[in-house]
Amino acid sequence: MQPLPGFRDFYPETLAVRRHIFAKWREIARRYGFREYDGPPLEPLELFTLKSGDEIVHQLFNFVDKGERAVSLRPEMTPTLARMAGARHRDYKKPLKWFAIPQLFRYEKQQRGRLREHFQFNADIIGETDVAADAELIALAIDSLRAFGLTKDDFVVRVSDRCAWQRHLTSLGIPDDKQGAVFQAIDKMEREPAEKTREKIAAVTPNVDEVLAFPKEDLGELFAKLGDLAAFCEVDFKIVRGLAYYTGIVWEIHDRKGELRAIAGGGRYDNLLKLVGGVDLPALGFGMGDVVLGELLKDRGLLPKLDWGLDASVVIADESLRSAALKLIHDLRDAGVSVDYSLTPAKVGKQFQNASASGAKFAVVVGPEEWAAGEVTLKNLATGEQTRVKRDEVAKRIS
Ligand code: HAM
Repeated sequence: MQPLPGFRDFYPETLAVRRHIFAKWREIARRYGFREYDGPPLEPLELFTLKSGDEIVHQLFNFVDKGERAVSLRPEMTPTLARMAGARHRDYKKPLKWFAIPQLFRYEKQQRGRLREHFQFNADIIGETDVAADAELIALAIDSLRAFGLTKDDFVVRVSDRCAWQRHLTSLGIPDDKQGAVFQAIDKMEREPAEKTREKIAAVTPNVDEVLAFPKEDLGELFAKLGDLAAFCEVDFKIVRGLAYYTGIVWEIHDRKGELRAIAGGGRYDNLLKLVGGVDLPALGFGMGDVVLGELLKDRGLLPKLDWGLDASVVIADESLRSAALKLIHDLRDAGVSVDYSLTPAKVGKQFQNASASGAKFAVVVGPEEWAAGEVTLKNLATGEQTRVKRDEVAKRIS
């Protein structure tokens, strides 16, 4: 049996990479003062058909449950957040700064950087209209990538503004309800032949060249608020974002070489809370997936060496000492030391081999002579250095 297409088995080595990525995300979110939340992985279908936009709706893992409810696995976190924040916004001081690391499900065509499940670091601010909040989120996203050792040479934040786009399209006589179709075409333009993009725009307006001349505005206020981090950013009106709910500044992070799909994307969505949560609160945020990021880190050699975190491997040199050794092992574990040992009798040489292979930092040898003297032998497996240690001091010495 194979996993379903686009779904991953996480063996310990790959799970270690995932944990490394999550740990950095959590650490940077903490530094920026964001609080972690989560919601249900399964939601009413309607939550996602309301305002996410056609593309995501076609990618839903949805079904009718045994209670005849139309439900869907979550393809993104933002509608859930809008509902949650709307329901309890009075309980929190604004602006809310919240983050989550949900697993998300989209029935996409499987390709490099796109799977049918992924984990996505989401950070959002609710209840703030000032552009300082947009800058805060972009800074958080940049620092999240810097935390892995990535630099300006590895990625770029491409910033745009849907308001500027709306003014541009309105000035060309394109009504509000037709602008979404243009955004869809622009969002796909880098991955589709130019003719296809032109065709899609031509279905809305004859002024295709004028549309493709792009808005001519700068984003000076945002860039000023970004300070030094502005060096990671470029104004780029080719970015409009695929999701339908964005209303203001929008941005995506791409690898500099342009080889991979987007690493992150987000923006302002000031109307979604009213629609989903019933309260009129401005909001903005971004999502950063683990798939493209993992590939980029691998390509750049930035994935750390695996450390399983095993402190010691106990070598039982004589089977008559097994129950005494088990007591020692339990005491060490009680003291917070991570310990492994051979569950069944094995030759001493074999136990040492296993100890080295396990990545343990120390071997603790329980042998008859040492034990009689109330001691064990502690061997540093990296240096080979060996000392006799009192039984009740092993934990302290290892720590
Ligand atoms: P999104 O652009 O659809 O935005 O996804 C954000 C990021 O999630 C992408 O840049 C990519 O790294 C990753 N991602 C998306 N789909 C897949 C996939 N099928 N496989 C692997 N990675 C994927 C959103 O989802 C918005 N809800 C983000 C947001 C939060 N906007 C405001 N707050």
